[in-house]
Amino acid sequence: MQGEISPYRPVPAHIVRPSYADSGKIVRWSEPRVKTPEIIERMRHAGHLGAEILRLAGEMVRPGITTDEIDAYVHQLTIDAGAYPSPLNYGGYRKSVCTSVNEVICHGIPDSRALLDGDIINLDVTAYIGGVHGDTNATFLVGDVDEASRDLVKVAEECMWKGIEAVRPDRPVSDIGKAIESHAKPHRYGVVRAFIGHGIGEQFHTDIQILHYYDSRANTIMRPGMTFTIEPMITLGTWQHRMWDDDWTAVTADGKRTAQFEHMILVTDDGFDVLTGGEGAVSPTAPWNR
Ligand code: MF3
Ligand code: CO
Ligand code: CO
Repeated sequence: MQGEISPYRPVPAHIVRPSYADSGKIVRWSEPRVKTPEIIERMRHAGHLGAEILRLAGEMVRPGITTDEIDAYVHQLTIDAGAYPSPLNYGGYRKSVCTSVNEVICHGIPDSRALLDGDIINLDVTAYIGGVHGDTNATFLVGDVDEASRDLVKVAEECMWKGIEAVRPDRPVSDIGKAIESHAKPHRYGVVRAFIGHGIGEQFHTDIQILHYYDSRANTIMRPGMTFTIEPMITLGTWQHRMWDDDWTAVTADGKRTAQFEHMILVTDDGFDVLTGGEGAVSPTAPWNR
């Protein structure tokens, strides 16, 4: 159900803006897939900020709050930290965070709809600071949530970690999708295909593609210094999606619920590093940690 969308929120002039911020147009340039140590440190900083904003926004989730109020909070936290909220005017997206409720797979637009007891909501936060983006998301429970949805959220987070743990230098990125799909399959959950993980750095989305399902054609070889997101969207039914008329909101074709988690990952000499952590591998957002 769609509500009213509030006007654009301004960003103070002193905050450094990404190239698309004024026009809304995404102009891509060629950016090295393997980042320098200096860029990686900046990405870690942006990543930690994104993670901190996501954690705080998640604490605000409760029945009765509107997704527009969550957007206002994320917007303020981001600019208070001296960062630009990457979603704002990215390809014309009007808000500072994506809020995806229940059957919404991703890119839900914050509006006047109040969260209801029993909803699940994904918050996808990206902060642009130091010339790079830090992109992370998590799904939160709103009040008292049914068991099927709680299991979905738990398994979606596990799927993300299975994908992350498959990151190893000199292996193809298809290992990631294979690991995610194998974990979802015994639960008979769907793995969304239309939206994928992506290379990231000075640009929000670069050319590296991370499929969350197995495809032998995903033969890009992981190399130390590469940075990309892993952000599987897992459903209680079909993997197929359809779009709302707003051209942003993606929902499950069967209307069943879906959950997502996202981290920004660095390929290291012997595995991976999570740039959007969080201490350790246990997420504070996991329902069993709350
Ligand atoms: N953060 C999303 C991702 O994980 C992208 C959002 S694009 C927006 O790739 F325009 F919708 F904000
Ligand atoms: Co992303
Ligand atoms: Co994201």
